[in-house]
Amino acid sequence: MNKDLLDVYGELGQEIQEILISEEALRSRVRELGRAISQDYAGRNPLMIGVLKGVLCFMADLLRAITIPVEVDFMAVSSYSPEARDQGVVRLMKDLESPLFGRHVLFVEDIIDTGLTLNYLLKTFRAREPASLEVCVLFDKPKHRLIDIPVKYRGFELPDRFVVGYGLDYRERYRNLPFVALLKPDVFLENRKG
Ligand code: IMP
Repeated sequence: MNKDLLDVYGELGQEIQEILISEEALRSRVRELGRAISQDYAGRNPLMIGVLKGVLCFMADLLRAITIPVEVDFMAVSSYSPEARDQGVVRLMKDLESPLFGRHVLFVEDIIDTGLTLNYLLKTFRAREPASLEVCVLFDKPKHRLIDIPVKYRGFELPDRFVVGYGLDYRERYRNLPFVALLKPDVFLENRKG
């Protein structure tokens, strides 16, 4: 069954070792998260913030699973040098358009690994004095966590493996896959050679 599905994706499908989370499992978990957020934030007109580009599939589906009035905004960041990245410091490429002061802010993230990026961004958001600030993350890889991040909504816990699909990329490929998958090891080796 997976083989037929991978065949649909041609050259991308051939680079996949295993599907970890199916499209159906993603859909049903995202709906549950949407229901929980709709209940918890009723009457509070929350502002959902996402960081481009990894969050794009999750944000689009989560928004449509929410049944209360909600606003959305995006920022774009890029890493500095590897040393700066080790401290989670990122360069702001596109700031938010909405002021956070006094707002109920829900930070929506695709994946947390070390937690450094998220920790840095949360600090900058807190400085803007929102009324509340919570985190919703779809994929949690707890193995390498360096900083404890309070996560209010969590989709799936993942093993310590590099995953692609549903917005997540490897060298800008695979974001369009509707499932989450592991790549074959030779995909990484090929890139190292090139
Ligand atoms: P952290 O600062 O280590 O938590 O890094 C989180 C960021 O690393 C995410 O926002 C992703 O951009 C990237 N990342 C971490 N793990 C993966 C993965 O398995 N696939 C794709 N990107 C990942």
